[in-house]
Amino acid sequence: MKKITQIKKLTLDWENHYKETAMEALHWYSEEVDPEVAVAIKKFCPSRGSALDLGTGPGTMAIELTKLGYNVTATDISESAINMAKARAGDLADRIKFIVDDVRESKVEGKFDLIHDRGCLHVLDADGIKKYLSNISRLLNDGGILLLKTFSIEETRADGPNRYSPELIKSYFEQGFELLHHEETIYPSTLPVDPKALFCVLRKRLS
Ligand SMILES: C[S@@+](CC[C@H](N)C(=O)[O-])C[C@H]1O[C@@H](n2cnc3c(N)ncnc32)[C@H](O)[C@@H]1O
Repeated sequence: MKKITQIKKLTLDWENHYKETAMEALHWYSEEVDPEVAVAIKKFCPSRGSALDLGTGPGTMAIELTKLGYNVTATDISESAINMAKARAGDLADRIKFIVDDVRESKVEGKFDLIHDRGCLHVLDADGIKKYLSNISRLLNDGGILLLKTFSIEETRADGPNRYSPELIKSYFEQGFELLHHEETIYPSTLPVDPKALFCVLRKRLS
C-alpha cells in the first residue's frame, strides 16, 4: 500500500511540474544532445536500429535519434512531458512511438538496441532502482547499449537528485552488463551553475 502511494505521489509531482513549467524553464532543458553523448552515439552504438529514450522529458534525445535514423520509442511518467515532446518533434512526431510509462512498472514491450537515460535513474529510490534494473535488462537486446547520465558524486549542492560514482554504477549493473566507458561531465542546464554529472556507457553481455 505504501509503495503504491509513493508511486502515485511521484507521478503527480512530475505531472504538475510539466503542467506548470514552460519547456525552456525546466532545469534540465537543453536544446541539443550533450556533446559527450553525441560522441558516444558514434563511438559505441549501432549506426541504426531500435532505441528507447527513457524519461524523455522535452524529447531532445528522442528527436535526435529519429533524425539519425533510429526507430525510436520515447517514454515518460508524465503525460504532459510526452505531449511537450510530441509538440516539439513537429513533423518527426509520427515517426516516434510516444508512451506514458513508469519505468518501475514498465508496460513497454519488445527489445531495443539502444536505451538512453538522462536524469531518470538518479531520481529513483532503492525499490525503484531494483525495478529499473530489471526492466532495463528485459528491454535491452543482448549486446545492446545503455547511455546513462546521472548526477555525479562530485556535485556538492545541498539539493537535487541522488549522486553516482562509477563504482556505484558498476555495482548496480554487475549482473549482465559491462561498463565500457565513464566520464565526469556536466548537465548543460538552465541553472546558474550547471550540475556535475557522470556519463556512463554500458553494454549488456551476450547471454
Ligand atoms: C531530469 S528529467 C530529464 C528529462 C530528459 N531526459 C532530458 O534530459 O531533458 C527526468 C525525467 O524522468 C521522468 N521520470 C521520472 N520518474 C520516472 C519514472 N519512474 N518512469 C519514467 N519516467 C520518469 C520525469 O518525468 C522527467 O521527464
